[in-house]
Amino acid sequence: MNVIICKDEKEVAKKAFELVEKVLKSKENPVLGLATGSTPLGLYNEMVKAYQNKEISYQNVVTYNLDEYIGLAKDHPESYYSFMHTNLFDKTDFKESNIHIPEGSNQQDALKYEDEVVKGQVDLQILGIGRNGHIGFNEPNTPFDSITHIVDLTQETIEDNARFFDGDKSLVPTKAITMGIGTIMHAKEIVLIALGSAKADCIKDTVEGAVSEQTPASILQKHPNATIILDELAAAKLAK
Ligand code: GLP
Repeated sequence: MNVIICKDEKEVAKKAFELVEKVLKSKENPVLGLATGSTPLGLYNEMVKAYQNKEISYQNVVTYNLDEYIGLAKDHPESYYSFMHTNLFDKTDFKESNIHIPEGSNQQDALKYEDEVVKGQVDLQILGIGRNGHIGFNEPNTPFDSITHIVDLTQETIEDNARFFDGDKSLVPTKAITMGIGTIMHAKEIVLIALGSAKADCIKDTVEGAVSEQTPASILQKHPNATIILDELAAAKLAK
């Protein structure tokens, strides 16, 4: 696994965009796996800027999102469907028919999405990371070979995500549909981004700890083409 440490958030976004651009320019119908949360926003801004400057088009790019809350309408401002449209899709020329975001609330819906992602074959998967090491919504102790499934969110994740719901954790959905860790590992290339000191512990466990289901992101140590891009704060606890 490659680890890139950048000075700040801005440099992280530029580095991540470089890796995305390389994949987009390498094939006719590139497939991106996309993530939500505050971390990838800088990357999405770079993607929007490149489109506005007419340096890039996303018309032929196919996307698969990692996860979605269960129980929020698509047009709820905090649904991941809304997040992706507001921050990336509506500001660029992605085609609605190329966009895939998981939806549904049962095992059958999850299997249907799994099938689509596997057939789609993600070229580059973008990931953020939760404070407890989760990727997508795969909380600690999710089996490494898991496929798309329905999850109960941990109390820690509900509390962390309450900031998007006026700080009220009773408004945060308690369930989600998420690609599994096995689904994520199927991507040809993975780029995980982490920012800020709150992520320093889980980044240390991910990069230097044992590969363990207690830290879902630690499985990336076994991926043949995984890169972790960090700002100095998220990298602060790594051995120098
Ligand atoms: C949510 C998402 C994850 C994301 C994590 C971290 O739980 N399901 O995909 O990585 O939050 O969010 P943030 O980037 O806002 O710290």
